[in-house]
Amino acid sequence: MSVRSPVITVDGPSGVGKGTLCQWLATRLGWPLLDSGALYRLTALAALRRNLILDDEPGIAQVAAGLSVTFTPGDDGALQIVLDGEDVSTAIRCEKMGNAASQVAALPAVRAALLQRQRDFRQPPGLIADGRDMGTVVFPDAELKLFLTADAGERAQRRYKQLIEKGMNANLNDLVKEIAERDARDAQRAVAPLKAAADAEVLDTTRLSIADVCQWALTLAQQRLAVRVIP
Ligand code: DC
Repeated sequence: MSVRSPVITVDGPSGVGKGTLCQWLATRLGWPLLDSGALYRLTALAALRRNLILDDEPGIAQVAAGLSVTFTPGDDGALQIVLDGEDVSTAIRCEKMGNAASQVAALPAVRAALLQRQRDFRQPPGLIADGRDMGTVVFPDAELKLFLTADAGERAQRRYKQLIEKGMNANLNDLVKEIAERDARDAQRAVAPLKAAADAEVLDTTRLSIADVCQWALTLAQQRLAVRVIP
């Protein structure tokens, strides 16, 4: 009989700090990380490179199904992402690609094309899954489901800091607008909209530090799962 590997899902809106938490958890537990947003970003990048328009549902679903991509974790938990032999780890992180990802993610055939690829990441010893619908659609039977929220203004500030630290261009007013647009599109789409699973643990992180959020998640993981923590 095959034993199912455990999954911790981390969902929430753009800029809430899921990526930071997931990388930290992945490193502490020694578990791989599924960055599902990266799959939507990669699909958008590959579609734009093929000159597809972003509402060409069958065309983009085909691109999603055929993505040739590898994810390699670095020592700090950050993923190196290689698409068709090219390192696109930085190229997919800009806001333009985030918005394009949000558009292709609203297409049901694209979500369907990426579903099994995401589930295939579930392997021993366990998986940290970062996204919008990890707890509701992709891993509805996850052992622990976390859902982070924060005020839109606070999330725009966090994203701004992150982009500047990476040496990328950013404008705070544009980010506030883009985050509001992305929230609306991700939460209102017909298929797999952003929402907390009924059995998710929800945390408002607006006034919390990254360390507080990480400790909250680790404590829950230790309570629910017999996880071994790497010091
Ligand atoms: O987490 P992110 O910013 O990299 O995600 C980019 C976009 O991809 C996001 O605006 C919505 C979409 N997305 C999704 O629809 N479902 C997921 N599980 C992950 C991301």
